Amino acid sequence: MLRLEGITKTYAKSAVPAVKSLDLHVRRGEIFGFIGPNGAGKTTTIKMLCGILRPDEGRIEIGGADMAKDPIAAKRNFCYVPDVHDTYDRLTGQEYMDFVADVYGVPTKERRERAAKYLEMFEIADAAGERINTYSHGMKQKLLIAAALLPAPPLWVLDEPMTGLDPKSSALLKDEMRAHTAAGNTVFFSTHVLEVAEKLCDRIGIIRNGSLVAVGTLEELRGGKDESLESLFLELTEDDYA
Ligand SMILES: Nc1ncnc2c1ncn2[C@@H]1O[C@H](COP(=O)(O)OP(=O)(O)O)[C@@H](O)[C@H]1O
Ligand SMILES: [Mg+2]
Repeated sequence: MLRLEGITKTYAKSAVPAVKSLDLHVRRGEIFGFIGPNGAGKTTTIKMLCGILRPDEGRIEIGGADMAKDPIAAKRNFCYVPDVHDTYDRLTGQEYMDFVADVYGVPTKERRERAAKYLEMFEIADAAGERINTYSHGMKQKLLIAAALLPAPPLWVLDEPMTGLDPKSSALLKDEMRAHTAAGNTVFFSTHVLEVAEKLCDRIGIIRNGSLVAVGTLEELRGGKDESLESLFLELTEDDYA
Protein backbone atom coordinates (compact mmCIF):
# COMPACT_ATOMS: atom_id res chain seq x y z
CA MET A 1 0.00 0.00 0.00
CA LEU A 2 2.81 2.34 0.95
CA ARG A 3 6.36 1.96 -0.22
CA LEU A 4 9.29 4.19 0.67
CA GLU A 5 12.55 3.44 -1.12
CA GLY A 6 15.74 5.09 0.04
CA ILE A 7 14.18 8.40 0.96
CA THR A 8 16.58 11.01 2.25
CA LYS A 9 16.01 14.60 3.35
CA THR A 10 18.44 17.20 4.60
CA TYR A 11 16.92 20.54 5.60
CA ALA A 12 18.55 23.70 4.28
CA LYS A 13 21.20 24.98 6.72
CA SER A 14 21.42 21.58 8.37
CA ALA A 15 24.63 19.54 8.25
CA VAL A 16 23.01 16.17 8.92
CA PRO A 17 20.08 14.55 7.14
CA ALA A 18 16.78 14.48 9.09
CA VAL A 19 15.93 11.23 7.26
CA LYS A 20 18.57 8.90 5.80
CA SER A 21 17.99 6.28 3.05
CA LEU A 22 14.80 5.07 4.64
CA ASP A 23 13.12 1.96 3.21
CA LEU A 24 9.69 0.94 4.38
CA HIS A 25 6.87 -1.18 3.10
CA VAL A 26 3.46 -0.92 4.75
CA ARG A 27 1.07 -3.66 3.71
CA ARG A 28 -2.59 -3.39 2.94
CA GLY A 29 -4.78 -4.15 5.95
CA GLU A 30 -2.28 -3.36 8.67
CA ILE A 31 -1.98 -0.74 11.37
CA PHE A 32 1.62 0.35 11.19
CA GLY A 33 3.10 2.32 14.07
CA PHE A 34 6.07 4.57 13.39
CA ILE A 35 7.82 5.24 16.67
CA GLY A 36 10.92 7.10 17.71
CA PRO A 37 12.18 9.76 20.09
CA ASN A 38 11.53 13.45 19.50
CA GLY A 39 13.49 14.71 16.52
CA ALA A 40 14.06 11.21 15.12
CA GLY A 41 12.55 12.12 11.74
CA LYS A 42 8.95 10.88 11.99
CA THR A 43 7.27 14.10 10.88
CA THR A 44 9.84 14.67 8.12
CA THR A 45 9.17 11.16 6.78
CA ILE A 46 5.41 11.71 6.95
CA LYS A 47 5.63 15.07 5.17
CA MET A 48 7.60 13.41 2.37
CA LEU A 49 5.19 10.54 1.99
CA CYS A 50 2.30 13.03 1.86
CA GLY A 51 3.99 15.07 -0.86
CA ILE A 52 4.46 18.16 1.35
CA LEU A 53 8.25 17.88 1.35
CA ARG A 54 10.16 16.61 -1.64
CA PRO A 55 12.79 14.00 -0.78
CA ASP A 56 16.37 14.74 -1.90
CA GLU A 57 16.65 11.11 -2.93
CA GLY A 58 14.42 8.09 -3.11
CA ARG A 59 10.99 7.06 -4.26
CA ILE A 60 7.53 7.03 -2.71
CA GLU A 61 4.66 4.90 -3.94
CA ILE A 62 1.14 4.95 -2.51
CA GLY A 63 -1.43 2.43 -3.70
CA GLY A 64 0.73 1.83 -6.76
CA ALA A 65 1.00 5.54 -7.70
CA ASP A 66 4.39 7.26 -7.73
CA MET A 67 4.35 10.49 -5.65
CA ALA A 68 6.84 12.28 -7.92
CA LYS A 69 5.35 11.21 -11.25
CA ASP A 70 1.65 11.20 -10.47
CA PRO A 71 1.07 13.12 -7.23
CA ILE A 72 -2.70 13.50 -7.65
CA ALA A 73 -3.21 9.75 -8.08
CA ALA A 74 -0.97 9.07 -5.08
CA LYS A 75 -2.76 11.67 -2.94
CA ARG A 76 -6.22 10.31 -3.77
CA ASN A 77 -5.23 7.17 -1.92
CA PHE A 78 -4.83 8.69 1.51
CA CYS A 79 -5.95 11.26 4.07
CA TYR A 80 -3.52 12.95 6.43
CA VAL A 81 -3.81 14.39 9.92
CA PRO A 82 -0.83 16.68 10.60
CA ASP A 83 0.80 17.12 14.00
CA VAL A 84 0.08 20.86 14.02
CA HIS A 85 -3.50 21.91 13.62
CA ASP A 86 -3.26 24.86 11.27
CA THR A 87 -6.39 24.82 9.23
CA TYR A 88 -8.67 27.04 7.20
CA ASP A 89 -9.61 29.25 10.11
CA ARG A 90 -12.22 31.31 8.31
CA LEU A 91 -14.34 28.31 7.33
CA THR A 92 -16.88 26.80 9.69
CA GLY A 93 -16.37 23.21 10.78
CA GLN A 94 -19.15 22.08 8.46
CA GLU A 95 -17.67 24.00 5.51
CA TYR A 96 -14.34 22.38 6.17
CA MET A 97 -15.92 18.91 6.18
CA ASP A 98 -17.67 19.77 2.88
CA PHE A 99 -14.45 21.06 1.41
CA VAL A 100 -12.63 17.82 2.21
CA ALA A 101 -15.57 15.78 0.89
CA ASP A 102 -15.43 17.82 -2.37
CA VAL A 103 -11.71 17.27 -2.78
CA TYR A 104 -12.18 13.51 -2.46
CA GLY A 105 -15.43 13.45 -4.46
CA VAL A 106 -17.54 11.89 -1.71
CA PRO A 107 -21.18 11.62 -2.95
CA THR A 108 -23.77 13.86 -1.23
CA LYS A 109 -25.70 11.27 0.76
CA GLU A 110 -22.59 9.53 2.01
CA ARG A 111 -20.88 12.77 2.98
CA ARG A 112 -23.89 13.93 5.00
CA GLU A 113 -24.04 10.68 6.90
CA ARG A 114 -20.33 10.41 7.48
CA ALA A 115 -19.80 14.08 8.39
CA ALA A 116 -22.65 13.90 10.92
CA LYS A 117 -21.32 10.63 12.33
CA TYR A 118 -17.80 11.93 12.94
CA LEU A 119 -18.81 15.40 14.13
CA GLU A 120 -21.06 13.73 16.69
CA MET A 121 -18.54 11.06 17.59
CA PHE A 122 -15.93 13.65 18.47
CA GLU A 123 -18.52 15.91 20.13
CA ILE A 124 -18.01 18.90 17.87
CA ALA A 125 -21.40 18.76 16.07
CA ASP A 126 -22.72 21.68 18.12
CA ALA A 127 -19.84 23.85 16.93
CA ALA A 128 -20.05 22.79 13.27
CA GLY A 129 -21.70 26.09 12.29
CA GLU A 130 -19.00 28.17 14.00
CA ARG A 131 -15.84 29.41 12.37
CA ILE A 132 -12.76 27.32 13.09
CA ASN A 133 -10.91 30.34 14.52
CA THR A 134 -13.26 30.16 17.51
CA TYR A 135 -12.33 26.51 18.21
CA SER A 136 -10.04 25.40 21.01
CA HIS A 137 -6.87 23.48 20.17
CA GLY A 138 -8.56 20.16 21.01
CA MET A 139 -11.60 20.96 18.88
CA LYS A 140 -9.40 21.79 15.87
CA GLN A 141 -7.58 18.52 16.29
CA LYS A 142 -10.86 16.60 16.45
CA LEU A 143 -12.16 18.42 13.37
CA LEU A 144 -9.02 17.51 11.41
CA ILE A 145 -9.41 13.89 12.47
CA ALA A 146 -13.14 13.87 11.62
CA ALA A 147 -12.38 15.39 8.20
CA ALA A 148 -9.67 12.84 7.50
CA LEU A 149 -11.94 9.95 8.45
CA LEU A 150 -14.81 11.25 6.30
CA PRO A 151 -13.63 10.12 2.83
CA ALA A 152 -12.40 6.72 4.11
CA PRO A 153 -9.53 6.47 1.60
CA PRO A 154 -7.48 3.24 1.43
CA LEU A 155 -4.75 4.74 3.65
CA TRP A 156 -4.87 6.97 6.70
CA VAL A 157 -1.68 8.79 7.61
CA LEU A 158 -1.76 10.24 11.11
CA ASP A 159 1.09 12.17 12.73
CA GLU A 160 0.91 11.79 16.54
CA PRO A 161 -2.90 11.63 16.42
CA MET A 162 -3.43 10.77 20.10
CA THR A 163 -1.28 13.59 21.45
CA GLY A 164 -3.57 16.11 23.10
CA LEU A 165 -6.74 14.06 22.58
CA ASP A 166 -8.92 13.35 25.58
CA PRO A 167 -9.10 9.64 26.55
CA LYS A 168 -12.59 9.13 25.13
CA SER A 169 -11.73 10.62 21.72
CA SER A 170 -8.49 8.71 21.70
CA ALA A 171 -10.35 5.42 22.33
CA LEU A 172 -12.85 6.25 19.57
CA LEU A 173 -10.06 7.00 17.14
CA LYS A 174 -8.36 3.68 17.94
CA ASP A 175 -11.66 1.87 17.28
CA GLU A 176 -11.95 3.66 13.93
CA MET A 177 -8.39 2.70 13.04
CA ARG A 178 -9.14 -0.95 13.84
CA ALA A 179 -12.41 -0.91 11.87
CA HIS A 180 -10.70 0.74 8.89
CA THR A 181 -8.02 -1.91 8.66
CA ALA A 182 -10.51 -4.73 9.35
CA ALA A 183 -12.28 -3.52 6.18
CA GLY A 184 -9.05 -4.04 4.20
CA ASN A 185 -7.63 -0.52 4.47
CA THR A 186 -4.33 0.60 5.93
CA VAL A 187 -3.30 2.95 8.75
CA PHE A 188 0.15 4.48 9.16
CA PHE A 189 0.63 6.59 12.26
CA SER A 190 3.45 8.00 14.31
CA THR A 191 3.57 8.07 18.07
CA HIS A 192 6.02 8.36 20.89
CA VAL A 193 3.49 6.75 23.23
CA LEU A 194 4.71 3.18 23.42
CA GLU A 195 1.64 1.68 25.09
CA VAL A 196 -0.46 2.82 22.13
CA ALA A 197 1.91 1.21 19.66
CA GLU A 198 2.14 -1.96 21.71
CA LYS A 199 -1.61 -2.50 21.90
CA LEU A 200 -2.74 -1.21 18.54
CA CYS A 201 -0.18 -2.00 15.86
CA ASP A 202 0.16 -5.03 13.63
CA ARG A 203 3.70 -3.95 12.87
CA ILE A 204 6.04 -1.33 14.22
CA GLY A 205 8.96 0.59 12.76
CA ILE A 206 11.46 2.27 15.08
CA ILE A 207 13.28 5.33 13.75
CA ARG A 208 16.32 6.89 15.33
CA ASN A 209 18.41 9.78 14.00
CA GLY A 210 16.67 9.51 10.63
CA SER A 211 17.29 5.78 10.15
CA LEU A 212 14.98 2.86 10.61
CA VAL A 213 16.60 0.70 13.29
CA ALA A 214 13.97 -2.04 13.57
CA VAL A 215 10.78 -3.13 11.86
CA GLY A 216 8.40 -6.00 12.46
CA THR A 217 5.62 -7.33 14.63
CA LEU A 218 6.07 -6.94 18.35
CA GLU A 219 6.98 -10.65 18.49
CA GLU A 220 9.59 -10.22 15.78
CA LEU A 221 11.07 -7.17 17.47
CA ARG A 222 11.28 -9.09 20.75
CA GLY A 223 13.13 -11.91 18.97
CA GLY A 224 11.85 -14.53 21.41
CA LYS A 225 12.87 -12.55 24.45
CA ASP A 226 10.31 -11.57 27.02
CA GLU A 227 10.97 -7.89 26.66
CA SER A 228 8.60 -4.97 26.80
CA LEU A 229 8.45 -2.57 23.88
CA GLU A 230 9.72 0.07 26.25
CA SER A 231 12.97 -1.71 27.05
CA LEU A 232 13.44 -2.64 23.37
CA PHE A 233 12.86 0.95 22.39
CA LEU A 234 15.31 2.25 24.99
CA GLU A 235 17.96 -0.25 23.83
CA LEU A 236 17.52 0.61 20.16
CA THR A 237 17.51 4.37 20.70
CA GLU A 238 20.00 4.32 23.58
CA ASP A 239 22.44 6.99 22.38
CA ASP A 240 19.67 9.54 22.19
CA TYR A 241 19.18 9.28 25.90
CA ALA A 242 22.83 9.14 26.85
N1 LIG B 1 11.68 22.82 9.06
C1 LIG B 1 12.82 22.35 9.56
N2 LIG B 1 14.00 22.94 9.30
C2 LIG B 1 15.16 22.47 9.80
N3 LIG B 1 15.25 21.35 10.56
C3 LIG B 1 14.11 20.70 10.84
C4 LIG B 1 12.83 21.16 10.36
N4 LIG B 1 11.87 20.30 10.80
C5 LIG B 1 12.51 19.38 11.52
N5 LIG B 1 13.85 19.60 11.55
C6 LIG B 1 14.87 18.74 12.22
O1 LIG B 1 14.83 17.47 11.61
C7 LIG B 1 14.98 16.44 12.58
C8 LIG B 1 13.76 15.52 12.53
O2 LIG B 1 12.61 16.24 12.98
P1 LIG B 1 11.14 15.63 12.90
O3 LIG B 1 10.97 14.97 11.58
O4 LIG B 1 10.21 16.73 13.23
O5 LIG B 1 11.19 14.54 14.05
P2 LIG B 1 10.02 13.83 14.89
O6 LIG B 1 8.72 14.06 14.18
O7 LIG B 1 10.43 12.39 14.94
O8 LIG B 1 10.03 14.45 16.26
C9 LIG B 1 15.17 17.13 13.91
O9 LIG B 1 16.55 17.23 14.14
C10 LIG B 1 14.57 18.50 13.69
O10 LIG B 1 15.17 19.46 14.51
MG1 LIG C 1 6.96 14.87 14.81
